[in-house]
Amino acid sequence: MKQEFEKIWELALPFQDKRDDDGHAKIVTEYASKLCEIENADDRIAVPAAILHDIGWSKLSKEERFVIFDQNIAPELERKIRINHQQEGVRLAKKILQKAGYPPALVRLILEIVSQHDTRQNFFSKEDGAMRDGDKLWRFSKIGFSADLRRTKLAFDILYDRMLNKIDEKNFFFFESARIMAREEMENRKKEFEKHAFLS
Ligand SMILES: [Fe+2]
Ligand SMILES: [Fe+2]
Repeated sequence: MKQEFEKIWELALPFQDKRDDDGHAKIVTEYASKLCEIENADDRIAVPAAILHDIGWSKLSKEERFVIFDQNIAPELERKIRINHQQEGVRLAKKILQKAGYPPALVRLILEIVSQHDTRQNFFSKEDGAMRDGDKLWRFSKIGFSADLRRTKLAFDILYDRMLNKIDEKNFFFFESARIMAREEMENRKKEFEKHAFLS
């Protein structure tokens, strides 16, 4: 991680990965950083947004944090909880960025991304795209995919098909490069699963 982001990373650490999703913040940040490089987006905006996007979960109750994995949750409740974690996230991210002495003009853009990273319909900038594509790519990564299998209790094939279909859904990914990465990840998940099935 670039030195300029290390202070933010350290300050945010106590609030990370609160949903049985160890590694989420780190993996999302790595994908976002990679997408900035490929797509020439500003990592001074996308990377801090990625680091800080989900810290708001730490302010919600355990029940609120986990009920959204329930396949039968009412859509209004899910939306309410998602909005909540975004609002808490903005509050906390603002404090952290100020403490880190981050430039106010960038802070504004970072907070705008965090404020609707789960609920915005479209993308408003390349940096918004890089951060949110990184968040989605987590679900295709080895750690993220296993976490989803564990938390949703879905069978491998069901989750695999579901994720594969998501790749080409409208407004899911912003960058074509993210779609390519997601397809590669899915190939790897399939290979790992087949190898495991063969061995057991
Ligand atoms: Fe989120
Ligand atoms: Fe996230």
